[in-house]
Amino acid sequence: MRGLIPDNLLEDILSRVDIVEVVSGFIPLKKAGRNFKACCPFHHEKTASFTVSPDRQIYHCFGCGESGNAFKFLMRYERLEFPEAVQVLAKKTGVVIPEINSGPDKNTAFITQLYGINELAVAFYENNLTSPEGLKIKDYLLKRGVKEHSIKDFKLGVASDKWDALINHLRSKGSSLALLEKAGLVISKDSGGYYDRFRNRLIIPIFDIKGRPLAFGARVLDNSLPKYINSPETPIYTKGKNLFGLNLAKEAIRDKDQAVIVEGYLDFIIPYQEGLKNIVASQGTALTVEQVRLLKRHTNNVVVIYDPDKAGELAALRSLDIFIEEEMDVKVVSLPQGLDPDTFVRKNGIDALSGLIDSASDLFDYKLKVLKSRFNHKEISGKAKISSGMLESLSKIKNAVLKSEYLKKLAQELDIKEDAIIEESRKVKTDKPQLSISRGIDNKLSNANSAEMLLIKLMLEEAELIDHIKNHLGPEDFQDEKISGIVSIMFELAEQGKKVGANTLINHFSQEDVSRLVCESIFLPLQLNSDNKIKVADDCIKRLKNNSSMLKRHKLQEEIKLAHNAGNEQRLNNLMEEFQTLINKER
Ligand code: GTP
Ligand code: MN
Repeated sequence: MRGLIPDNLLEDILSRVDIVEVVSGFIPLKKAGRNFKACCPFHHEKTASFTVSPDRQIYHCFGCGESGNAFKFLMRYERLEFPEAVQVLAKKTGVVIPEINSGPDKNTAFITQLYGINELAVAFYENNLTSPEGLKIKDYLLKRGVKEHSIKDFKLGVASDKWDALINHLRSKGSSLALLEKAGLVISKDSGGYYDRFRNRLIIPIFDIKGRPLAFGARVLDNSLPKYINSPETPIYTKGKNLFGLNLAKEAIRDKDQAVIVEGYLDFIIPYQEGLKNIVASQGTALTVEQVRLLKRHTNNVVVIYDPDKAGELAALRSLDIFIEEEMDVKVVSLPQGLDPDTFVRKNGIDALSGLIDSASDLFDYKLKVLKSRFNHKEISGKAKISSGMLESLSKIKNAVLKSEYLKKLAQELDIKEDAIIEESRKVKTDKPQLSISRGIDNKLSNANSAEMLLIKLMLEEAELIDHIKNHLGPEDFQDEKISGIVSIMFELAEQGKKVGANTLINHFSQEDVSRLVCESIFLPLQLNSDNKIKVADDCIKRLKNNSSMLKRHKLQEEIKLAHNAGNEQRLNNLMEEFQTLINKER
């Protein structure tokens, strides 16, 4: 939704609100020097590390890293969507926002029509439950332990075995076939005409967080394949961007500050019906970043219940690393072989499942256990395999304290020296391949990264420095991809003659870690006067340039080696020439 509200309106609103006032409407703030402090409302702490800057109009928590502007605070604290947070502050400041919609009005109307047609389809399938085929399916559901009220709660329904039942019904209501096709409800025939996508199946509607019907899952009643047919992607439905059941579970997830994640529709329906309300289903696929972020708006704690099917176990565990990357606390429950949450609850009752959830293992403990059961941790080669498996996940922990504690623990568990583990952990590839060219460069680059952050801070504090820096560096000279992105936006805004402030700058980034970088750089503990600032900027520029050309040189050297080995004379000559030019430039 970001990007749909004009930047100047966002800036206008931000210029009229005071973040100190906004935040103190929710939590008490204490003055501390130029800033205000409080215990962070986003993580548990005893000493105040949540800081609000009236100068910069942003907040930042030194404990958990949560940071942003007034919009972001409302999004996090009140759990609003971006446009909703904007609306709240717009009202407060008297700024009028022209209706927020996703493009031209025609488009909005089209989207509304898609939801509308899905509503009609939900009602149609539900209504079919009273037909003879419907009664058969109802019987199937009741036998599987789905109670009458759940059938209603989940708006379950039935698609008959006719090829045109839905088409005829919706046509009689005046819907166009083109719209039906766009909604994924019908399929066009090669020979012309259309037929219903879902036939002779149990229908499970999929709702978004606001309870609007997005799509459908449709299950066969026998053992035929495919077991499920799902709606295709449509303008309102993207696979992997939605979590089944979140509309029903969101309050319970907030109340318990925990979400339980299962895979299947039935694995959601049965436990939910029996009283486990803080649950969502991933619908069979590996969780995506979008889904994880959707959850993160409601809680930081997840418990994943998953199938201990031995073959895929490690791969399945690896897919949970996504939670580590999003800095969430993730635990794992593995059910007895052969049972899924649905069958487990029907066999042992919901309390048994809740018990397993309460005593779920930390992902790392769990993974270590699995690895130890695979490899012999008393043997050297086993130790190496276990540690490399563990380091794959541990390397993704962002919090340095947490990471070092886990590394220590791993060293103890495997009875090896902590130094060795730490050394190995440095070798694990990060998502920036260029950083692993050589260790020597690695070290320099981490300096470069702080120089890069410092440059952002300087440009935000001293607008005149933007041009100066722009004269010497391009966004591509910044090695950190995210910082490079920030810089290119800053340059762009400066070119348009716009004032670049931290609180408005972060409106341009929907990725949390990017806006966090902006706030972090602002709070780098460094007091500089204007003269100093130019000197520091020049120093940083020099460091970045050196790093940038060093990297270029190394890359060229690698390519030269390759060309040499391949005996590609022509390419070798070109590369050598390029190398020479680079060296000359540096002199
Ligand atoms: P039951 O077999 O009735 O217990 O259903 P379930 O929902 O528990 O399904 P299961 O655990 O076998 O699969 C988990 C999820 O993967 C399902 O809810 C579906 O979202 C998805 N899924 C399973 N089988 C298929 C399939 O054949 N096609 C597609 N597209 N998705 C499937
Ligand atoms: Mn199942």
